[in-house]
Amino acid sequence: MLTDRKILLVVTGGIAAYKAIDLASRLKKLGAKVRTILTKSALEFVGEINFRAITGEPTYTDQFDLAEPIAHITLADWADIMVIAPATANIIGKMANGIGDDLATSTILAFHKPILVIPAMNVNMYNNKAVQDNIERLQIRGINLMIPEKGMLACGYEGRGKYPPNEEIIPAILTYLQYEQTISSKYLITFGASQEDLDPMRFITNHSSGKMGIALARAAYLRGGDVDVIHSRISETLPYYLEQISKTLSAEEMFSQVKEDFTKANVIIMCAAVADYTPKIKEEQKIKKKEELSLELKRTQDILHYLGENKREGQILVGFAAESENLVENAEAKLKKKNLDLIIANNISVSQSERSLAYLITRDKVEEFQGTKFDLAHKIIDIIEAIKKDVNKY
Ligand code: CTP
Repeated sequence: MLTDRKILLVVTGGIAAYKAIDLASRLKKLGAKVRTILTKSALEFVGEINFRAITGEPTYTDQFDLAEPIAHITLADWADIMVIAPATANIIGKMANGIGDDLATSTILAFHKPILVIPAMNVNMYNNKAVQDNIERLQIRGINLMIPEKGMLACGYEGRGKYPPNEEIIPAILTYLQYEQTISSKYLITFGASQEDLDPMRFITNHSSGKMGIALARAAYLRGGDVDVIHSRISETLPYYLEQISKTLSAEEMFSQVKEDFTKANVIIMCAAVADYTPKIKEEQKIKKKEELSLELKRTQDILHYLGENKREGQILVGFAAESENLVENAEAKLKKKNLDLIIANNISVSQSERSLAYLITRDKVEEFQGTKFDLAHKIIDIIEAIKKDVNKY
């Protein structure tokens, strides 16, 4: 995944500095080469030895180290991406003002490749107008920043300022090694497995984990999209930065939420494993045991079909097709029948939980894809954005 990618980790002096040790370890395990710069304040919280032992690469602290007299240039030339984690209000302020008064800030000035900043600080510091202005200035310059998580902070305050989970920083690094934050569309993404109740205790569902939809939401958000999600049952935690979230369990609930929200979106991706059938009667009381039991089911609304009939001009509609045979033919037929712009046909007999084998089918092209769900998510977004460009041309 990150094999031989060169990452320059800059650790600054915040209480979350210890979390950067785990980040370095995860990146190394993914095959990356990680070199670390620690600021003077970072050394108050963590030691060089932690990073050197974990990464097996040198660490740097001193701009005037005679053994490495121009480390700020050689390190800037060496790395593919720079990750500043955690980033204090102080370094953000220096970056915004082009100050280079130590090794970390001088290297930042010499660095002309993607930068990812992970702010982490007290909520009042984060919300301070000066800090927010500085963040905005960095964003305008094309520097990627992750929003801090909300929660209980080390200082005892509650609010936004928390260092995000490293599990969320890694997809961001993977994204910014390849892409800029250039998406301007509003995405509506559905995912998860429907839950159709039989009685107060039992329900019918399916094996969908929601992982593909979460990967899509992650990729679209990280690339700058405004992302709303509607999801049913999922077996993975949602990224902390998604805010417009509706939970709907049954196919009927999802349909009514989609009807309410879809007009606001430019791109709609139906990744949910929506039940095709629901019990004819939902029993109010628990169904008692008997020798035999037959369930009567009725069809649910095909949400994708409804969207295909009701989408406005220029709105991009994407569907999925889970097939076990005649993959491409069946999916092409669904693309036309449901008036879609793109359909992703998954071979359910081959796809595993982390990797996918899929065909991406548009009106004029069929592309085969093999790789992780996150890579597939980016590929889907590439195609959507290309279709959007094409649509906007006319
Ligand atoms: N879908 C939907 N509403 C439903 C069922 C499915 O919107 N009630 C959407 C899914 O989100 C997916 C697509 O339809 O994007 C394809 O679902 P799939 O089950 O593969 O195909 P169907 O069209 O239902 O056809 P079949 O089950 O006969 O293969």
